Amino acid sequence: MALSMSGLIFAVILSASVATAIPADCPKYEQASGNVNPPLSEGKYSLAYQRPETRCRTFAVPEVEAVIEEMKTEIVDPDLFRLFENTFPNTLDTTISWKGFGEEDPDEELTFIRTGDINAMWLRDSANQLQSYKPLLRADPSPDSLASLFRGAINLQGRYIRQSPHCNAFQPPPESGLEPEYNSWAATDFVVPRFSKSVVFECKYELDSLAAFLQLSHDYFSRTGDAAFFGRPGGAWASTVAVIMNTTSELLRGTYASDGTLNRSPFLFERKSNKASETTSNEGAGAPVRADTGIVRSFFRPSDDACVFQLFVPANMMFARYLDACADIMVELDGGTADTMRGFAEVVRVGIEKYGRVEHREFGEMYAYEVDGFGSHNLMDDANIPSLLSAPMLGYLDRDDPVYQNTRRFILSTENPYFMFGPVLNATGGPHIGPGMAWPMGLLVQLLTSDDDTEIEKGIRQLLSSTSSLGLIHESVNSHDEKKWTRSWFAWANGLFGQMILDVRERKPHLLRLRYQ
Ligand SMILES: *[C@@H]1O[C@H](CO)[C@@H](O)[C@H](O)[C@H]1NC(C)=O
Ligand SMILES: *[C@@H]1O[C@H](CO)[C@@H](O)[C@H](O)[C@H]1NC(C)=O
Repeated sequence: MALSMSGLIFAVILSASVATAIPADCPKYEQASGNVNPPLSEGKYSLAYQRPETRCRTFAVPEVEAVIEEMKTEIVDPDLFRLFENTFPNTLDTTISWKGFGEEDPDEELTFIRTGDINAMWLRDSANQLQSYKPLLRADPSPDSLASLFRGAINLQGRYIRQSPHCNAFQPPPESGLEPEYNSWAATDFVVPRFSKSVVFECKYELDSLAAFLQLSHDYFSRTGDAAFFGRPGGAWASTVAVIMNTTSELLRGTYASDGTLNRSPFLFERKSNKASETTSNEGAGAPVRADTGIVRSFFRPSDDACVFQLFVPANMMFARYLDACADIMVELDGGTADTMRGFAEVVRVGIEKYGRVEHREFGEMYAYEVDGFGSHNLMDDANIPSLLSAPMLGYLDRDDPVYQNTRRFILSTENPYFMFGPVLNATGGPHIGPGMAWPMGLLVQLLTSDDDTEIEKGIRQLLSSTSSLGLIHESVNSHDEKKWTRSWFAWANGLFGQMILDVRERKPHLLRLRYQ
């Protein structure tokens, strides 16, 4: 999101339940992140130091500090180390607005994670913000641990989804004592089903938001093996999964019934806006979709822009993969439901493979970004994850898959209408900020899905040289002008940079020993 909210509340008045309130005299990070704070790094990019002082950080764990300390010697380039040091801890340093326990169930850990400059919790962003710490995650019952942050986010996301499964961004829970943020751009939205503004910040139905809950659950489970958490008495993980499956099966339905009458759309969305990507056609139902494709409809993309065609392939890849993966958790609680999950995931996968591929005159067989099932398709990619480029990261397919490789060549070529290139940054962008603006996140995904040393090295160079000396990863950067960028404080992108560096450390440690001057 590009709009910055005039703002209520980050440093709140201390109350007993607020575990992470920072002192009121701490600088506001929306401002601090836009300043070139000393001491500058010693390479030619002279990057600012962007960590808040220790007492002003919203959460801290020793594992993250230890990795930063190790990287001080493993990363040879002083600017690259600075960029890692600023970005990797950014979610912990600045976005854990509240961590505590449920009012009715004192064993219910809760974590409210803001996106950064926008004071609300996005299901997708928060799952990805935590994912950057996945390699450091281990089983730990303590409320001060990374594991507890994950559990708290899973519990809170579950609450949100059970209450409003079609919505994408949410308000702090009542237990936090934090005020809800008034969302001015959603003031006149027409949305069905209705929702409460004290719970929901914005209600754009995006399939990947539901898949994000499954991703987060699986990330936690795969590192901790903590099946007991998911089956906790009074815990509602299994009911959340049931709500997700019910909601998404409704969205398998096409626009027309077999006798030609209209099926009621389970979701409708219209907004008063001068941006076409902020609202939907056909009285809020969007462009018609074919029945029985096996692909689940999504009204919006992970950029929060409206889908042109609602059979949105990347979110379906993510949903199929994580629904299947979470059956490994469910099997411990309810074998029948685990089978249903696997079966549903397979239906989606078959649908993607049947309706989601097209033949391109230059690249051969490849995945489309969106289809309608009638034959129309949209060939493009957008930087936000899930994207087509990220399909191997999502675990949907292997990086060497030939159809993926064709798709990847298309995405990174000028045949992709949203590929931006120029002297500053070559990367995918999208309609959210618009043509001309390349997204570092797009380039990060390119590096995370590459096995080519030269490609990774060149990419790191571009990321390092395009922060306007601020030493943080921005949402978008003009591919011809480093000084034009959006969002000084975008925690997901910062975390993803850290995730990429940890991945390089694992797979290609020699690239951390290069100088990027
Ligand atoms: C299933 O979803 C439909 C439409 O989204 C909703 O009306 C219904 O209440 C849901 N049922 C359950 C059991 O969640
Ligand atoms: C982007 O690609 C173009 C064409 O290949 C190249 O000339 C340019 O140097 C690249 N930009 C960056 C920042 O690497």
